[in-house]
Amino acid sequence: MLSFTLTLGLQAFVILSTVTPSTPSPVVQSSGYLETRSSVLPLAASTIYEASVPTWHENLAVRANGQLLVTRMDAAILELIDPAATNTTPIIINNFGTAYAGCLGITELGSDVFYVVAAAPFGSNFAKTSGTSSVFKIDMNTFAVDANGNVVGGATITKVADLPTAGFLNGMTTLNVNAGLVVIADSLNGTVYTLNVLTGTYKVTIDDAKMKALSTAITPLGINGVKIRNGYLYFSNTGNPIFSRIPISSTTGCATGSSLVVASIPQVDDFVFRADGTAWMSQNQIQSESVVKNGVVTLVAGNNFSTILAGVTAGQFGRSTATANILYLTTNGGLAIPVNSSIVVPGKVAYIDTSQYS
Ligand SMILES: *[C@@H]1O[C@H](CO)[C@@H](O)[C@H](O)[C@H]1NC(C)=O
Ligand SMILES: *[C@@H]1O[C@H](CO)[C@@H](O)[C@H](O)[C@H]1NC(C)=O
Ligand SMILES: *[C@@H]1O[C@H](CO)[C@@H](O)[C@H](O)[C@H]1NC(C)=O
Repeated sequence: MLSFTLTLGLQAFVILSTVTPSTPSPVVQSSGYLETRSSVLPLAASTIYEASVPTWHENLAVRANGQLLVTRMDAAILELIDPAATNTTPIIINNFGTAYAGCLGITELGSDVFYVVAAAPFGSNFAKTSGTSSVFKIDMNTFAVDANGNVVGGATITKVADLPTAGFLNGMTTLNVNAGLVVIADSLNGTVYTLNVLTGTYKVTIDDAKMKALSTAITPLGINGVKIRNGYLYFSNTGNPIFSRIPISSTTGCATGSSLVVASIPQVDDFVFRADGTAWMSQNQIQSESVVKNGVVTLVAGNNFSTILAGVTAGQFGRSTATANILYLTTNGGLAIPVNSSIVVPGKVAYIDTSQYS
């Protein structure tokens, strides 16, 4: 199937490139007539690593060397998976222990230095039941594996800050490398924290109505994924079917203007931009991966009745030229909302080659 569409796509590009050289192959040729790009759908999802039930892969970051750092929410674990290796069994980078319920957002700030959200224990309404949520620094520069795959040097792990006022910290992204600023979504409170990872100081810098969950939402989680692009903070909202943006100051983390809805899309967990500006949205609660392009939403992989991407939580594109269109995805197998209300499958780390989708 993949090679079939690949072949057609390349043919179409060759044929059309003489006519419309500026068009990046939005159509493929089939049976003598032109179809829209929908003929490349659904995009195939391939498994890199499959865990057992219950495993909740929550979020991920891509190291410069192509390896994946994957956070888990069934326990407060950060693990490493090498998509290029023959053995993709995870290496545990750290288990943060039972003082935390799980790990969530992860972002790089500095070369091979990552920051991870560790969430305090919480109840069925996602409100904290004990302890405090924290952000940890994970310096991978000291991490080393020998030729046999044995870990010979651990990551250097330090706590950056406790955030006792936070509700449910979720997605995180880097705002300003030089100033050491990251932003973190508080899904329960519907706000954004800005944290200075150099000093450990933090505060709520954006509190916007579009970040709140609707009272009718199946979970009380609002803002979830956060990404910065062209001076805007883009954010998904799990409990309100909108994808929005707000201009943000890179020095303070405060909003510099009003928020705006970019697209209507339900039940999004985290999301990521491809280099071309399309946004790839992981709809955990409806087992679906969709793309937002120019405000239009298209389902590209999985669907609400399928286990292919059951409980897809977050995505990241590769960082090399060869992997720039490879979308790595984390899933929980349907632990949040089972497929067809009852089916839970092993959580996995998968990838989609998005090259054919323009
Ligand atoms: C966030 O929500 C929690 C739970 O509702 C609440 O206890 C806390 O005060 C809120 N934090 C802020 C900063 O409003
Ligand atoms: C979910 O239900 C639909 C409709 O009955 C069915 O077509 C589909 O195969 C079911 N999915 C799974 C994973 O069993
Ligand atoms: C998705 O499937 C669930 C059952 O698993 C159902 O309750 C829900 O209404 C469906 N949502 C959509 C958007 O199809």
